[in-house]
Amino acid sequence: MLIRHRRLRKSHAIRSLVRETTLSPDDFIAPLFVIEGQGKKEEIASMPDYYRFSLDLLQAEVRQLWELGIKGVLLFVKVEDYLKDNRGKEALNPEGLMQRAVQAVKQATPEMLVMTDVALDPYSSYGHDGIVEDGKILNDPTTEILAQMALSHVQAGADFVAPSDMMDGRIRAIRNLLEEHGEVDAGIMSYSAKYASSFYGPFRDALDSAPGFGDKKTYQMDYANATEAIKETLSDVEEGADIVMVKPGLCYLDIVREIKNAVDIPVAVYQVSGEYSMLKAAAEKGWLDHDAVMLEQLTAIKRAGAQIIVSYFAKDAVKLL
Ligand code: PBG
Repeated sequence: MLIRHRRLRKSHAIRSLVRETTLSPDDFIAPLFVIEGQGKKEEIASMPDYYRFSLDLLQAEVRQLWELGIKGVLLFVKVEDYLKDNRGKEALNPEGLMQRAVQAVKQATPEMLVMTDVALDPYSSYGHDGIVEDGKILNDPTTEILAQMALSHVQAGADFVAPSDMMDGRIRAIRNLLEEHGEVDAGIMSYSAKYASSFYGPFRDALDSAPGFGDKKTYQMDYANATEAIKETLSDVEEGADIVMVKPGLCYLDIVREIKNAVDIPVAVYQVSGEYSMLKAAAEKGWLDHDAVMLEQLTAIKRAGAQIIVSYFAKDAVKLL
């Protein structure tokens, strides 16, 4: 035999030398759920070991993440029911929970990159990502509010906004409004190829944001489609996104690779709540080795072309690396 493939696998040393993909703390963004109150740390029922934090404990958490080497967080807020309406008015409140959360993180860890979720669903009495009229989700009036919401987050101190709504034209609307207000350094990480996925269930428990009627299939993408993901992503690049994202992760690695090959800006992947919960559940039953499967999955996401991984495993993974 002239070629023996196993020579390059013979020892730990040679495997390390020829390894193409390695994980580092630099790869991760940690999503964080924020609630009102003091001294509160509530476990999310469908996401074992994952919590919602009040602002004081959020500060303790981000300090710990920073010490572990994680350099970015993505903030989500759980909005009180009485503040919800059809137009997400509370999202624009300069004293709102998100705006205060951004300030709290910056105060605790000034160098931490703070990203915020921009979408109406946590604020919507209908649990939808846009304004509802006659059972339909309105596009253009929603993008106007999203742009104002993004501006409000940036004015509170956010480094990046992350629009997760999938309305058409929202990246352009956000970019234009930020420019008009001189916020030229604010970044946009766009959820560009976001699929209508059943893997978001635990997240909707975490924020109590499940749609009150229907589903999100008129704005989030059909999981049977790939070409559309390229089209969506290229629009976002043209409209001024700095980073594009594919979501969910593992079931969509073919899309990640295609997008990686199609754009010249960083590609992020969101390994979503359902992916987290599946592994936690299997590990709890003793059916899968939690740490080993976690690192295999995260490495696969990076191998597919993700430069940034948004993951609920960020902290667990970084502790192991
Ligand atoms: C909402 C939003 C969702 C997620 C991030 N932003 C849920 C949805 O679209 O219903 C899902 C994240 C996860 O499942 O971890 N705009």
